[in-house]
Amino acid sequence: MIQGERVRLRAVEREDLPRFVAWFNDPEVRRGLTSHLPMSQADEEKWYEGQLRQPPAERALAIDVLDGEQWVHAGSCGFLGINWKDRRGEVGISIGDKRYWGKGYGTEVMRLLLQHGFETLNLNRIYLRVFAYNEGAIKVYRRVGFQEEGRLREDHYFEGRYWDTLIMGILRRDWQAAREGEG
Ligand SMILES: CC(C)(COP(=O)(O)OP(=O)(O)OC[C@H]1O[C@@H](n2cnc3c(N)ncnc32)[C@H](O)[C@@H]1OP(=O)(O)O)[C@@H](O)C(=O)NCCC(=O)NCCS
Repeated sequence: MIQGERVRLRAVEREDLPRFVAWFNDPEVRRGLTSHLPMSQADEEKWYEGQLRQPPAERALAIDVLDGEQWVHAGSCGFLGINWKDRRGEVGISIGDKRYWGKGYGTEVMRLLLQHGFETLNLNRIYLRVFAYNEGAIKVYRRVGFQEEGRLREDHYFEGRYWDTLIMGILRRDWQAAREGEG
C-alpha cells in the first residue's frame, strides 16, 4: 500500500475488474486514454493475467479515494514502463469513477506517484504522454511540477480530426528543489 492522506495506491485485485470494464467503456473516461473500442470482461481478464507477468514495479495500481470515512476504489495508475539503466519511467493515471473528478484526488495521486518513483524506485526522470485537448489532466501535471518537453504533431486521431500529443516530464532534481522550496 502506498498511503496518502485522501488517496491510497494498492495492488489491483481480480474483484476490481468489473469496475474497470464499466469505466473503460465510458466514452468520457476513454477520451483521455488510448483505448477507443468497446471492451469486455474477458478482455480485462486477459489484461489482468498479463499484468501478473509484468515486473512488480510496472504493474498497475488501484486508486482508492477517501470518501467521508470510506475508502472507495475509483481508478488506476502506475508506471507503464521503466528503463532501469537510464532510470526513467512513464506514468499513467485514470480516475474512472467520474463522481471523484475535480476534487483534487488526481493531483494527490500524481504527487504520490512522483514520491514513489523518486524515493522508492530511485528514478531520475518521470514522464508521460497526454493529448493536447485533455486540459484537466495537463493542469494536474503542471501543478505537480511536470514541464512540457515536446509535442508530437497530429499524433492522435479523435472525433474526426488529428490532435497533438504532449510529452511532459519532471526530473528528480526539479522535484527535490520544489519540495525544498515548499518546506
Ligand atoms: C485527468 C484526471 C486524472 C484528473 O483527476 P482529477 O481528480 O479530476 O484532478 P484534480 O481534481 O486534482 O484537478 C483537475 C483540475 O483540472 C480542472 N479541469 C477539469 N476539466 C477541465 C477542462 N476541461 N479544462 C480546464 N480545466 C479543467 C479542474 O477544475 C481541476 O482544477 P482545480 O483543482 O484548479 O479546480 C481525471 O480526470 C481522469 O482520470 N480522467 C480520465 C482519464 C484521463 O484522461 N487520464 C489522463 C490521461 S493522460
